[in-house]
Amino acid sequence: MKIITGNSNKNLSLKISKYLKNRLVRSSIRKFSDGEIYVEINENIRGNSIFVIQSVSSPANDNLMELLLCIDALKRSSAKNITAVIPYFGYARQDRKVVPRTSISAKLVSNLITKAGADRVVTIDLHAGQIQGFFDIPVDNLFATPIFARHVRKKIKNKNLICVAPDVGGTERARALGKFLHAGLAIIDKRRPAPGKSEVMNVIGNVKGKTCIIVDDIIDSGGTIVNAANALTDRGAKEVHVYVTHGVLSGKAVQKIKNSKIKRLVITDTIDNSDRVKSVKNIEILTISQLVGEAIKRISNSTSVSDLFR
Ligand code: R5P
Repeated sequence: MKIITGNSNKNLSLKISKYLKNRLVRSSIRKFSDGEIYVEINENIRGNSIFVIQSVSSPANDNLMELLLCIDALKRSSAKNITAVIPYFGYARQDRKVVPRTSISAKLVSNLITKAGADRVVTIDLHAGQIQGFFDIPVDNLFATPIFARHVRKKIKNKNLICVAPDVGGTERARALGKFLHAGLAIIDKRRPAPGKSEVMNVIGNVKGKTCIIVDDIIDSGGTIVNAANALTDRGAKEVHVYVTHGVLSGKAVQKIKNSKIKRLVITDTIDNSDRVKSVKNIEILTISQLVGEAIKRISNSTSVSDLFR
């Protein structure tokens, strides 16, 4: 078994490589002067099972193209099988036609990955579990929930906890964390009046005097989370802590979080934000490298991945 990295999150790939005690395959991924991407595998990988690690984070188009070209280069180098390890699966939010005459990017990207030559996909907290069905190859969707639960137990001593879904789509995720923490559930009724804008209509559940743990898959502009934190505080919540797997953090999101009522935002390193949030006191990054490393090991040894979450 061998692992190789794209350029999107080399820090994470190095941590995974350290966990597996397996060095990264030598490769060069460069750009021609016109912006086209060039991938070269610099060692023999014939007959090997290869895991290629690449997040489809910003710049999403370049990182996606890099992933596709890496898979293509591996296939043409006679790899035995190729697993695309995509810690952050970008383009997943367009997973159905919300209004007529739009594309379904999650399906197109799934087709591209399969067509390029991947035999399996490993990802974390897919925006919607159903996207697994967009592939006709196996997809292992890992969850950050156990990592978040451990962190809550360690850092938040108050026992009066309630897990909060910032929108109806996040209910399952919040319920799963609530199960680990033996905490109740509240749900925010969020509407999007326009793309990129969010409004809180109602909070379902009593949050008065409680320490709220909001859990979500993505924080992008920060609007959803900041509005949710305001709504919870207005309804008497004692503190608001937020756990989000993928820190997309576009535009002024970091500044928004810094100036918000959120006591602590915890994200993972599926996207490399180490430099951007270094000096922000209420943002913390947890690594998912051991989880991904362990999943790779189990896939490679043909043992259970789901046992990681029991
Ligand atoms: C929406 O369904 C997602 O789970 C996130 O809540 C959303 O993508 C966050 O976006 P933003 O931070 O821009 O509100």
